Amino acid sequence: LRVGVLASGRGSNLQAIIDGCRQGLVPARVVVVLSDKAGAYALDRARAAGIPAFHVNPQDFANKHDYERELVKILQSYGVQLVCLAGYLRLVGEPLLQAFPNRMMNIHPALLPAFPGLHGQRDALAYGVKIAGCTVHFVDEGIDTGPIILQAAVPVYDDDTEDTLAARILRQEHRLYPEAVKLFAQGRLRVQGRKVFIDQERD
Ligand code: GRF
Repeated sequence: LRVGVLASGRGSNLQAIIDGCRQGLVPARVVVVLSDKAGAYALDRARAAGIPAFHVNPQDFANKHDYERELVKILQSYGVQLVCLAGYLRLVGEPLLQAFPNRMMNIHPALLPAFPGLHGQRDALAYGVKIAGCTVHFVDEGIDTGPIILQAAVPVYDDDTEDTLAARILRQEHRLYPEAVKLFAQGRLRVQGRKVFIDQERD
């Protein structure tokens, strides 16, 4: 399975997916990485792994539609079959959604539908929940609203800060995202309306 990744920053989830593929745990290959941010460390990680990586600057385009058309063009030119958003800090629009229907995933650092948006961990901590976590979901037109594929929970401790909680969640992200890509690559994810069913592994 040919995977394209969109990232805006650090790229630790990108790294987890690359490593999962390299180690043979995930029957897929990251073939291209795109970032809307010039200095994104994700681009360095990709290049270090020998993966083509490009900065596509939204400001070089007249509007978001044209910018996304360019992303789609590049992804298609690499034969991408699944797009993974990994810390991509933009709301996805029509060109990407239409080009990759139910073929685009995102990871969010909260147990959706609780705490969508940019500060999942901070919002969970402020709310006082005792269980936090992360969610991998298919991407739709909303903010963190698409069909849920996998979730993982972690405890919230009394002395947690945003950083300690985020680190605990991140360890689960790095396990969960490669697992979701693996299930997709194995053809085991079935989307029915809001629900994603996971077919049993056959031997
Ligand atoms: C992660 O916490 C992810 O859940 C959120 O943004 C962060 C990206 O981290 N969507 P990284 O760039 O993968 O290290």
